[in-house]
Amino acid sequence: MATVTLKNIRKVYPKSHNTNKSNLKETADGVLAVDDFNLEINDNEFIVLVGPSGCGKSTTLRMVAGLEEITGGELYIDDVLVNEVAPKDRDISMVFQNYALYPHMTVRQNMEFPLKVQKKSRDYIDKKVEEAAEILGITEYLDRKPKALSGGQKQRVAIGRAIVREPKVLLMDEPLSNLDAKLRNQMRAEILKLRKRINTTFIYVTHDQTEAMTLGDRIVIMKDGVVQQTGTPQEVFDSPHNLFVAGFIGTPQMNFYDGRLVEDKGRYHVEIKDMKVALGKEKTERLKANGVKSRDVTVGVRPEHIVLSEGENVLRSVVDVSEMMGSVVHLHVNVDDQDSIIIVPTIQLKDRSLVKSGAEVDFTFPEDVIHLFSKETGNNLEY
Ligand SMILES: Nc1ncnc2c1ncn2[C@@H]1O[C@H](COP(=O)(O)OP(=O)(O)OP(=O)(O)O)[C@@H](O)[C@H]1O
Ligand SMILES: [Mg+2]
Repeated sequence: MATVTLKNIRKVYPKSHNTNKSNLKETADGVLAVDDFNLEINDNEFIVLVGPSGCGKSTTLRMVAGLEEITGGELYIDDVLVNEVAPKDRDISMVFQNYALYPHMTVRQNMEFPLKVQKKSRDYIDKKVEEAAEILGITEYLDRKPKALSGGQKQRVAIGRAIVREPKVLLMDEPLSNLDAKLRNQMRAEILKLRKRINTTFIYVTHDQTEAMTLGDRIVIMKDGVVQQTGTPQEVFDSPHNLFVAGFIGTPQMNFYDGRLVEDKGRYHVEIKDMKVALGKEKTERLKANGVKSRDVTVGVRPEHIVLSEGENVLRSVVDVSEMMGSVVHLHVNVDDQDSIIIVPTIQLKDRSLVKSGAEVDFTFPEDVIHLFSKETGNNLEY
């Protein structure tokens, strides 16, 4: 168990010669793969770094592990500055996407390897390996070689090897990416259980937002080397601070509309085409506090927050396709030329013809599920 603090951490890689079409900022020394990363991780906390490919997740994790030099900033583990401390002296273990097991060793030999390096006694080693094997449900495979194991079993061994040392911090870089969807869900649940059984601070990297939402106490969302938002899964879902976070978190994706925010004598309403929605007290207060005036905005509404409506003051759309998911139907609709997805609970559909392609559907949404973003910066106008 340990706290980990990242203060203004940055990483500059020397510019590579091949043409680089990434959005990373450049300095005189090279490309800025991680810029001004700040985070205080609590004892025993489970932190997930999430973001699209190339956003700097692995680089950040590798700097914590000591596998990558830190270009700038300070890294503390339990209040000790560790920028210059060798990986083996940081009391950290790491699990990789490709397992990285020793093929010529049995599962037991793989798992005891870190303890042998530490010159622990035979009794201690046996006890720790057997405990870890039991936690991970791999006791019966201890004498097999890795090639006789499935992907999920291999990853369990890799996790076992990482936890036998009882590291202060356990780092995992996309540990489930090589597994099929079903196994991935199962292993995700097992990582949650593992987390309850061992006292370790976790830093977990994934590009999968579902994994991030289900595993993390807090999530750090990154883009182009820059942290976009840090918060609990509920916070980043309910209050995305910018368009990127709004679009990245939640599936299917949030719908976006061109609209206008109108301020009139201290009250606000939103106009999208012919529809007007008056904003309630909470939103009004936050917008007022930020001094927001009438302006064009990007309006964001999640598919599950849209409601079908037959009244006036609605958005009119035409169903493109509908996907029956069992308890809900996903309607893909067009509002003029813009695509939207609406999630409708199946029991609310009185008339099944409604979901046929080409059907006309009118919808609206309550004011408290509306997100308002600046057209210029993409930032949420409430935060
Ligand atoms: N050794 C290196 N030399 C130069 N540039 C690098 C090096 N390693 C990574 N980069 C660049 O730094 C950026 C961040 O890479 P990183 O591997 O941290 O991304 P990531 O978020 O882990 O992506 P992925 O999801 O694909 O694993 C990328 O633009 C990458 O091309
Ligand atoms: Mg990576």
